[in-house]
Order: sequence, then C-alpha cells, then structure tokens
Amino acid sequence: MDRPYVILCVSASIDGRISLGPNRTMFDLDKRDEVLGTREEWEQFYGSFEERYQPDVYMEGSSMIVREGAELRRLAPYDGDPEDLYRDHLPREVIEKPGRKGWLAAVDGRGRLRSGYTGEEDRPLMHLVSRAVCPEYLGFLRRAGIPYLVAGEKRVDLALALTKMKEELGVRTVLTSSGGRLAGALLKLGLLDEVHIRFNPVIIGGFDTPVLFASPDLRYDEPPVSLEAIESRTCPDGRIFVGYRVIQR
Ligand SMILES: NC(=O)c1ccc[n+]([C@@H]2O[C@H](COP(=O)([O-])OP(=O)(O)OC[C@H]3O[C@@H](n4cnc5c(N)ncnc54)[C@H](OP(=O)(O)O)[C@@H]3O)[C@@H](O)[C@H]2O)c1
Repeated sequence: MDRPYVILCVSASIDGRISLGPNRTMFDLDKRDEVLGTREEWEQFYGSFEERYQPDVYMEGSSMIVREGAELRRLAPYDGDPEDLYRDHLPREVIEKPGRKGWLAAVDGRGRLRSGYTGEEDRPLMHLVSRAVCPEYLGFLRRAGIPYLVAGEKRVDLALALTKMKEELGVRTVLTSSGGRLAGALLKLGLLDEVHIRFNPVIIGGFDTPVLFASPDLRYDEPPVSLEAIESRTCPDGRIFVGYRVIQR
C-alpha cells in the first residue's frame, strides 16, 4: 500500500449522530454531550486503539476545532516569494526532535487553524493544507515552526496527503476520530481501512446534526461500501461496540 493504514474510531448515537447539534467544536462540549460517553470513557475507548495499533499519526478535521463561519484571526502579510511557501515544510528541528513519538495532523484545506498550537511535547502538530490557503497563512505556520504538507488545489487531496505522510515521514498507521464529513470523504475515496464505532443508547435526531459518514449520495449504479466484521460487544447498559474492516473496491 502506498499510503498508511487508516483506522477510524468514533462514538455515536444509535441513529448515527456524532454530536448533539450542528457546528459544535470540541470546546463546546458540556455535560449533555456525555450521552456519547464521558471523557474517561472516551479515553478508554480511544486508548484501546492507541495501544493496539501504536499509530504514528492522530489525524482530525478542522471543524472539530474551529466553527464554520467563525471569524478568523488576521495574519501579518508575507513579504517573501509566495511560491516558495507552497512546498512541503518539514523543519528538521521538528522531525528530529528528541523524544518525538509521532504526529498530530489537522486537515485544514482553508487555513482556518490559526491559534499557533504546535501539538504535544512528543507529538508535534502538522497541518495538511491545500494550495487554496493564502500565503499569509503559510508564512504564519513557518514563523510558528509548524510543519505542513501541501496536497490538493481547492481542498486537501487526502490520498496525496496520506501518501506524502508515508513517503516523506515514514508514517505507517493513522488513527482518526474525525467528524462525519472527513470520515465520509475518506471512506468514499477508499482511504479508510477499519471502522470502530461505540454506539450509545440514545437517539439524537436532527436534520443538520453531524452523522458518522457524510458524503455525496450514491449514484444510481454505485454500490455501498461493504464491511467485514472484526469484533462486536454489547454491554448491559445498552452500549454496543463494533469494529469492521473496510472491503476496498
Ligand atoms: N462523537 C465523536 O466521536 C466525534 C469525533 C470527532 C468529531 N465529532 C464531532 O463531529 C463534528 C464535526 O464533524 P463534521 O462532519 O461537521 O466535520 P468534519 O468531519 O470534521 O469535517 C471537516 C473536516 O474535513 C475536511 N474535509 C471534509 N470533506 C473533505 C474532502 N472531501 N476532502 C478533503 N477534506 C475534507 C475539512 O477540510 P477543510 O478544513 O479544508 O474544510 C475539515 O478539515 C463536531 O461537532 C465534532 O465535535 C464527534
């Protein structure tokens, strides 16, 4: 495989909602969100996959961090040659940082993540960007010492970004708990290898509440994605854990 193995693990309601409502970030979570699991339960669930797969990268989407439509921080203009910026930026001091165990990766095709967060001590953050981001943004990432990979014109070309992760950084396994649109895109593109879902005994409903896999409707002649069971477990309190391998077409 010319890309890393990609595993999704996510917590959902019985009707496949992954959030209590539209446009909520990880910073909006409150007690009510615990119907999808408490923080401790999530850490246990997610942690079991960390242990099992020892992923090199934890990858997430931008909507978990920044709301759609949120006002973005203004950035200083970039006065160098902008074309230089649109090349992958992998500073040696980050790649070769002593004690680095892996990476966090954020899909950020529009350049919306502007806090300057550099990741964890042993897992620096890399941004996956498209060529549609403005030069000021890439200049900002460089000044902040944040690595980035450039893939795609208008949004991140996820296949290319994953291939670059493997070729340029030796990444073999990616774990993601991404939201429904990113998971939907990965699945549709044949870039997801395993799906692990913790179903919680609640129904959330909603027309715009994020779902497990949001992607364009199937064409008339397009088959659904088939799965092969890996494991399943039902708890007395009604939670159901399921794991599947994706059968690639
Ligand atoms: N229950 C859980 O376990 C769980 C886990 C994670 C998230 N969540 C919740 O899920 C919600 C977010 O889900 P969401 O569906 O709104 O957003 P999302 O899945 O996070 O999708 C947005 C991200 O995917 C990228 N993306 C989407 N389609 C793409 C495509 N075709 N090609 C390339 N990149 C693509 C976007 O890139 P751009 O930045 O370029 O637009 C963005 O980074 C939040 O409420 C979050 O709290 C729940």
